[in-house]
Amino acid sequence: MAPTRGAEVGGRIILHRVPTGIGIVPVVDVTIESLRDGDEEAAHALAEQSFGPSRPYDPVAVSPPNSDTVAAYQGDTLVGRLKVLDSAQWFGGRSVSMGGIGGVVVAPEARGQRIAQRLLDEALHRMHADGRALSTLYPTTATLYRSRGYEFAGSYTVPALRVADADLDSAVRAEPITWDDARVRALYNRVSVRRNGWLDRTDYTWASVLQGFHKKDRPHYLYGMFREDDELVAVVGYTYQPVADPDPAGELFDIDVHMLFAADGAGFADALSFLARNGTTGRLLKLLYPIDELRLSVRHGQRVRSGVTLAWMSRLVDAPAAIAARGYLPDVDAEVHLAVHDPTLVANQGPHVLRVANGVGSLEPGGRAEAHIDCGDFASLYTGYADPGFLANAGRLAGAEPPDVDALRRAFAGPPPTIVDFF
Ligand SMILES: CC(C)(COP(=O)(O)OP(=O)(O)OC[C@H]1O[C@@H](n2cnc3c(N)ncnc32)[C@H](O)[C@@H]1OP(=O)(O)O)[C@@H](O)C(=O)NCCC(=O)NCCS
Repeated sequence: MAPTRGAEVGGRIILHRVPTGIGIVPVVDVTIESLRDGDEEAAHALAEQSFGPSRPYDPVAVSPPNSDTVAAYQGDTLVGRLKVLDSAQWFGGRSVSMGGIGGVVVAPEARGQRIAQRLLDEALHRMHADGRALSTLYPTTATLYRSRGYEFAGSYTVPALRVADADLDSAVRAEPITWDDARVRALYNRVSVRRNGWLDRTDYTWASVLQGFHKKDRPHYLYGMFREDDELVAVVGYTYQPVADPDPAGELFDIDVHMLFAADGAGFADALSFLARNGTTGRLLKLLYPIDELRLSVRHGQRVRSGVTLAWMSRLVDAPAAIAARGYLPDVDAEVHLAVHDPTLVANQGPHVLRVANGVGSLEPGGRAEAHIDCGDFASLYTGYADPGFLANAGRLAGAEPPDVDALRRAFAGPPPTIVDFF
């Protein structure tokens, strides 16, 4: 295929193939705009072609409004799109507004023409204009997202454990519970606020969690674990996945645990012990849960298998807003003079002073520009995924002195960043 060049003309992207000696391919005109009404099914088909067959198009499926889908058109033909989910993540005990990028797709015949980059640029500028602090996504190509200021910033894991190994000898009191029971959300909120990275779930997030269960086309179960005083201390939601070669004497299915959250270690032990009651017929538990905590919690931690392990990427959309929004440990007192590199969202670019004191952070323009950092690495520090010492050693915090590294380490210290939702 002939190489292409892109240029922006009056808000429209004009893509044209350069002369090849064989002839000049006609100019292709691509516009970037919101998904047009009536094109929802085309957007679904485009995703299906790239991510593999899913359920048939369902007009009432949970999906963001068309105004939150950035689309690329060649004339009237949809050739690319991405969705921006209105979301938020907890950091340092405070909710930080986040645009979740999902369903990034470009039609195979239109690939390699910078359309994905342009979709991302448009989404980033829209998010910035909307006052969004952060953006997070699950990449299938890191290079595309790094080119737009994202960096790896946390993990999503689905470790596996033999069902029998989940038995923690807990005296469980389990009862079925319904999705609309207000105690389910209340417990999730109580648990997630202490987790760096977990979503501050909205109605939309809950609806898409439920949709995820239904997508499996298998019965799904939701149970609550209760204490003697009827306090709900853990919730587990799961489906059964039949194994390929079932053993009639047992091991008929694996258990996909799509949701598990517990008020404390005892609640977690209850939830695992409850799942271990499937020991006569179940083979593996596949738990959407931070792997390290699972390993630390079970008797034979060495038997926890890594299963699915994904990393999510983040970027600061509005760096000062992101720094102001998250929480910090109350005894941290830090000041670092940073020069931020952000060619895509230039409002973040340039010298800034990062200050953290009394649990509050600020990032103000100005200062001595002593340590240089790319906006992606800044996001990775922000979530607590990248250690500043690592970045300094790798030359990615050029100019930082050991006190700067220590100050950044203290500022962004906290639980390892994880997410238990996929988008
Ligand atoms: C990934 C995808 C959206 C890229 O769309 P595109 O319009 O062709 O991408 P662009 O032309 O804007 O390319 C930008 C960058 O994407 C990355 N990229 C594109 N195709 C890639 C591939 N096949 N493998 C790895 N990276 C790729 C590269 O970093 C590229 O920059 P470079 O050419 O300077 O190296 C497209 O290939 C696609 O729809 N793939 C299937 C679905 C998918 O994986 N979506 C992403 C989900 S997170």
